[in-house]
Amino acid sequence: MLCSVDPTGRICGVTGAASGIGLALVDELIVNGAAHVAMMDFDKEGLRDALDNRAHQRSKLSIHQVNVASESEFRAVLQKVEDQTGPIDIFFSNAGISRSGGVEAKDEDWVNSWDVNVMAHIYAARFLVPRMSHRKAGHLVQTASAAGLLSVLGAAPYAVTKHAAVALSEWMAITYRPFGISVSCICPQGVRTPMLFPELKNSAIDSSSTLADTVAQSAVTSAGLVLEPEDVARIAIQGVKEDKFLILPHPEVAGYMVKKATDTEVWLSQMARISEKLSKSKSENPPQ
Ligand SMILES: NC(=O)c1ccc[n+]([C@@H]2O[C@H](COP(=O)([O-])OP(=O)(O)OC[C@H]3O[C@@H](n4cnc5c(N)ncnc54)[C@H](O)[C@@H]3O)[C@@H](O)[C@H]2O)c1
Repeated sequence: MLCSVDPTGRICGVTGAASGIGLALVDELIVNGAAHVAMMDFDKEGLRDALDNRAHQRSKLSIHQVNVASESEFRAVLQKVEDQTGPIDIFFSNAGISRSGGVEAKDEDWVNSWDVNVMAHIYAARFLVPRMSHRKAGHLVQTASAAGLLSVLGAAPYAVTKHAAVALSEWMAITYRPFGISVSCICPQGVRTPMLFPELKNSAIDSSSTLADTVAQSAVTSAGLVLEPEDVARIAIQGVKEDKFLILPHPEVAGYMVKKATDTEVWLSQMARISEKLSKSKSENPPQ
């Protein structure tokens, strides 16, 4: 049995809600009639600014500072949201980080990427799945990336952890469907947010997370159209309403997946050629 996934009158939660795609999802949920959207992020100032800029919707919004990489913190916030507003119907596990580099990237970058891009989805599901399955209704949405279906040049920690996020989404979609829980996985290519364009962020950001002037940034921006976060949010909510599993804001990604699956050797050679060209132009070479 599947629940209705129309956001109208629903209680929703969004992580990474202070910026980019997460903030656009908050606005799109309100436009689509959500009763309440709990905005979660570790950027407290960003959350406050977002709320101040949405004064007319204040009664439908709440802000919660949380590090989604900490299960105890995350559970406490989810519990608080449910205690204050009622059971969460639709949850967008959207917060993510990008770390560039190859296998030589610092262990810290690999571990942080794993914690935020994968474990946080698991922590959210550990809290929500028993509650949703008890009610036989609920929708879990993970923001992964086209990097999790194909790859992304110049950012191994990102490509690898986003593949894991897609794998987790698939596994949950298969396993929880009989319990009335729907799962969607959003896999955009380039989106105009501070993750891809650090200069868009006003406040100081963790410099280790910047993709500015890297092979990864060039690879994503040259791969196709860079969408606005509002476009991604609109397509994502439409996908959720249609109960779609794989939400591809850039439809051409489906074609690349077919190419990768059916002509893997050619796909790899083409990717390797582009990687070599971009690495030379950015003077980013693998360690000798
Ligand atoms: N921008 C793109 O081109 C692109 C493409 C594909 C997928 N994505 C994915 O979309 C999602 C949203 O990214 P965005 O582009 O909006 O970037 P963004 O940097 O604008 O927003 C990410 C938000 O997540 C928050 N966040 C990061 N780590 C957190 C943590 N540990 N706890 C709580 N909050 C945390 C940040 O504070 C920030 O507000 C990410 O999962 C990202 O990987 C982005």
